[in-house]
Amino acid sequence: MEFPVTRMRRMRKTQGIRDIFKKNRIFAEDFVYPMFLVEGTEVKKPVASMPGIAQQSVDQALIEIAELYQIGLRSVILFGIPPEKDDLAKGAHHNEGIIQRGIKEIKERFPDLVVIADVCMCEYTSHGHCGIIENGEVNNDKTLPYLGKIAVSYAKAGVDIVAPSDMMDGRVAQIREDLDKNGFEEIMIISYAAKYASAFYGPFRDAAESAPQFGDRQSYQMDTQSSIKEAIREGQLDITEGADVLMVKPAMAYVDVIKAFEENFDCPICCYNVSGEYAMIKAAAGNGWIDEERVVTELMTGFKRAGADLIISYHTKDVLRWLKNKQ
Ligand code: PBG
Repeated sequence: MEFPVTRMRRMRKTQGIRDIFKKNRIFAEDFVYPMFLVEGTEVKKPVASMPGIAQQSVDQALIEIAELYQIGLRSVILFGIPPEKDDLAKGAHHNEGIIQRGIKEIKERFPDLVVIADVCMCEYTSHGHCGIIENGEVNNDKTLPYLGKIAVSYAKAGVDIVAPSDMMDGRVAQIREDLDKNGFEEIMIISYAAKYASAFYGPFRDAAESAPQFGDRQSYQMDTQSSIKEAIREGQLDITEGADVLMVKPAMAYVDVIKAFEENFDCPICCYNVSGEYAMIKAAAGNGWIDEERVVTELMTGFKRAGADLIISYHTKDVLRWLKNKQ
């Protein structure tokens, strides 16, 4: 039927009508809050390029989690900045490392909070790359045992989920095998399956002090102009190797990849709304150029509509407040 019989504006006539036909919504439990942990106590060091986000010591992180837990926070993902870096990222699998301590203390105070730990070496290596360097390059196979070891040490500390973000081939299989061998069959893996060598990670590298000291990450992270088929192969491999959830990162420029994952895979899909995406919104909002709440809500809804079941975002704490205020 055509106009004038069909009138789409009937759907939009009142708030009540619009409300009852809403299809795509965001909920507090859709969000994961990323946190940057450092040693010490009472440390709260703002990250200049990420307004509202700070490197913090575990005591301060616990205070922030307590506030957010009250308004619906259900999950955090942890990144660690060790006091010292070396070639082999020893700080990453140290029993008393910053993440190991963070996991223990957070799980002790908030046993129901889902704690995810990012598994990667770049925050812990002096060269800032995500693996072991040999002949000036990141050596894939030599890196794998280290990733397994890091994942096991997080599991020992009590983590719920490990999330490898390094993009080495075979890391999911290695981590699954090492977790299982050590009795951690029930620890989940969210793999950063389609992770692009994106320009949107700049502010994160300030926050995590993890910028590569030479070269870039193009030889392991995906090319930003690569085919969607390559993303699908990455997803397939990770599922085959034992990933429970697949992640797409960044989110905004890759909603088509989120959609493709949603259509191709039966597992839950996660997306990472990264630091540069956050910085852009915060800068525009700070200048009064956009309505932050409406813009962020629209973006997050877009990620969900594209197929994301879970959204990792620095906007989480604002989103939780907005959702609470609407109740
Ligand atoms: C570690 C890692 C990075 C991010 C998450 N895990 C940085 C990178 O790959 O350089 C980026 C997250 C963000 O930008 O918010 N490899």
